[in-house]
Amino acid sequence: MDFETALLKWYDQSKRVLPWRSDPTPYHVWLSEIMLQQTRVEAVKGYYARFLATLPTIPDLANAPEETVLKLWEGLGYYSRARNLQKAAKVLVRDYQGILPKDEKVLRTLPGIGSYTAAAIAAIAYQEKAIAMDGNLGRVYARLVGEKRVLSLPETKEAGRRYFEERLENRPGDFNQALMDLGELACLPHGYPKCEACPFVSFCVAHQAHQEIAYPVLAPTKKKKQESMTVLLFSYQGRYAIRQRPSQGLLANLYEFPHKEGIDTKAKLQEWLVKENLPYISIRSLGRYTHIFTHLTWKMVGYEIVLEKEYPQEGWLYVTPEEMKQTYAIPSAFRFYQDKIGTK
Ligand code: ADE
Repeated sequence: MDFETALLKWYDQSKRVLPWRSDPTPYHVWLSEIMLQQTRVEAVKGYYARFLATLPTIPDLANAPEETVLKLWEGLGYYSRARNLQKAAKVLVRDYQGILPKDEKVLRTLPGIGSYTAAAIAAIAYQEKAIAMDGNLGRVYARLVGEKRVLSLPETKEAGRRYFEERLENRPGDFNQALMDLGELACLPHGYPKCEACPFVSFCVAHQAHQEIAYPVLAPTKKKKQESMTVLLFSYQGRYAIRQRPSQGLLANLYEFPHKEGIDTKAKLQEWLVKENLPYISIRSLGRYTHIFTHLTWKMVGYEIVLEKEYPQEGWLYVTPEEMKQTYAIPSAFRFYQDKIGTK
């Protein structure tokens, strides 16, 4: 049996039922592939349904207020994905009658669409013979051939892409998604893969050599930068102070609790409040929390400070916990403290 036949036979028996597979329009494929970058399938399902219920078409996305798009993305992380999605939708409405083009090269000119996403849209939505090389396909390829080069190198990814392209004949969308599923269900990234479930054991170089864990070869991980901060939940008559982050950089335009640099003890914070002439009724310790981004770690300590009167600062809004949930996109990094509101 040839490679594609074996792969698709496995897929037809083992594939996952996923919301974006039942109606793979170009918009649905695009949205799901952007959401699935850096995010687990299970986490994406709810976001995907909610996003499409609010913004069912590309013109709806193009014309929505940015706040709406960010709110729909709240908790998914990597918010530039959401901003680029909307930027691309505006370009599509302006230049392409609101329709995603099917040519990979043209797709790659759109904001937020790189070679992976362009290939996924071309293959899954348009049945073009494209290969969407993600981490799953890279790992499957590396094990099948015993690839010794570091997986993230462009030449390694290109070798993988060519390997699969040479074996793709008939069903481009299923071929790509079968390899993704194989990588997520059998050829697992952590611990031992489930080789008994794989259609390729008879010729997989890594398996034959009992060296599954040695592949793929990964680049050494870089040490993350660390920042520390004291997060301040100022409250006055049941409302909490939040402010919008700058329009550039990490978590741009999202809302956050005010915070100051460094990890303050309660005593040090009290001293600072006196110095700032901020009369307060009580301070409650909310504990420590560490949030890990791709390139950065935030070490945080939090306090709730009940104020005697509102402390007006430029750009600060005092909002109820309900309004915070309904209207303002607050990144997950602050969720630990947001969830402490109303607890003892
Ligand atoms: N991971 C990223 N895209 C996927 C897809 N279309 N199916 C399964 N897993 C995926």
